[in-house]
Amino acid sequence: MRFFKKSEELLERELKVSPLAAQTYSKSYRYFSRGVAPCYMDHGEGCYIYDVDGNKFIDFMCALGPITVGYNEPAVNEAVIKQVNKFASGSLQSELEVELAEKICEIIPCAEMVRFVKNGGDATTAAVRLARAYTGRDVVLMSGYHGMHDWSIGASEKHKGVPDAVRNLTKNFIYNDLDDLENKLKENEVAAVILEPIQSNGPKEGYLEGVKDLTHKYGAILIFDEVVSGFHYALGGAQEMFQVSPDLIAFGKGMANGYPISAVAGKKELLEQIEHGVFVSTTFGGDSIAMAASLATIKILEQPGFYDHIAKIGTMLHDGIQERIEKNDLNDVLAVSGMPHHCGVTFEGHGSLSYLDVQSVYSQTILQHGIIQFAIYFLNLHHTEKEVKVYLDATDEAFSLIRKAVDQDSLDGILFGGKVDPVFKRNIK
Ligand SMILES: Cc1ncc(COP(=O)(O)O)c(C=O)c1O
Repeated sequence: MRFFKKSEELLERELKVSPLAAQTYSKSYRYFSRGVAPCYMDHGEGCYIYDVDGNKFIDFMCALGPITVGYNEPAVNEAVIKQVNKFASGSLQSELEVELAEKICEIIPCAEMVRFVKNGGDATTAAVRLARAYTGRDVVLMSGYHGMHDWSIGASEKHKGVPDAVRNLTKNFIYNDLDDLENKLKENEVAAVILEPIQSNGPKEGYLEGVKDLTHKYGAILIFDEVVSGFHYALGGAQEMFQVSPDLIAFGKGMANGYPISAVAGKKELLEQIEHGVFVSTTFGGDSIAMAASLATIKILEQPGFYDHIAKIGTMLHDGIQERIEKNDLNDVLAVSGMPHHCGVTFEGHGSLSYLDVQSVYSQTILQHGIIQFAIYFLNLHHTEKEVKVYLDATDEAFSLIRKAVDQDSLDGILFGGKVDPVFKRNIK
């Protein structure tokens, strides 16, 4: 039995002074079954985290993507500490900036030049600005999530506070549907097509090539948002995996094992506009600590076998989840979604149970088995077959409880922790 006394005390304190008591929506206590979940982390080690009450969890969230190598990784720590003893942000650039820019241009297929910023949203926003400046057009077509900035969040359901004039300039297109993209390219003078190249179960054969051809046919710039796919599927991201190069790429999570850094990279003629009036500049863009961490991280990611390991562990999880869905006859309630490197469970409502009821049973059960996960998992170098076994055993139990809840059409006697309560809910039962 785990106790969360200190977590709960800290939560009460923080809720009085900081909305949601977490700076990233998906890390908020509301996304986990309360009473069985920790809220505050003390430290991490490899693929494990320890909360402030001393409980240990296997971490399949990896900070929502940044922890590609593992927590408290000696080589990254060493590089960071070496630079901490010199300077963090300075009045001039650090030598590390040159090294990192060269490294990015070496490993990312489309990168002829690169500009560093801090968050994924800074990078996607910079890419869109470069495309608009280059084409002299305003409209953006997007598919996926691209961060909190007005141009993208304004076109989502979470658009409160974004002026209509801005919202009208971005339109969504449907992933894996070239006709939909072409119709929207015909209807609008499009500056940029931006998409997460890997969504749901990945691109259909020829889809990314088709997107590139259409985008160029209609005179727009192609941007891959590889904030998630970058550094998780292959060193060169989705563009390496699927052999399709965009004009610009935005990436962030995963490039520095948790240190804050992101980048926009791509064709020289686009990036060079930054020298001629296109504004992309941040105070902390040259933060040398994150750059030291990134160089050390990439060195580990470059080691032979790194991505084979992620694919192997991911495949065991992916196939194991699918088997357990079938074993429990839950195909109408649960699905495994995503490619093995980064996938997880999706939930549907059934009878009088909402999808959040179903998700709550899952959340409660895997937490009780000592696992932190936010429906879709991220992996790092330290996840092994041992952690996969714990996860699949927990999943077995969670799915049989979901089966029971579906059969009795209620959560009675099953859910004793809190219900998960995301701020943004799907528009379905
Ligand atoms: C695909 C994608 N793009 C952009 C972002 C925004 O990144 P950040 O939260 O670092 O601004 C995210 C964040 O989850 C993302 O998943």
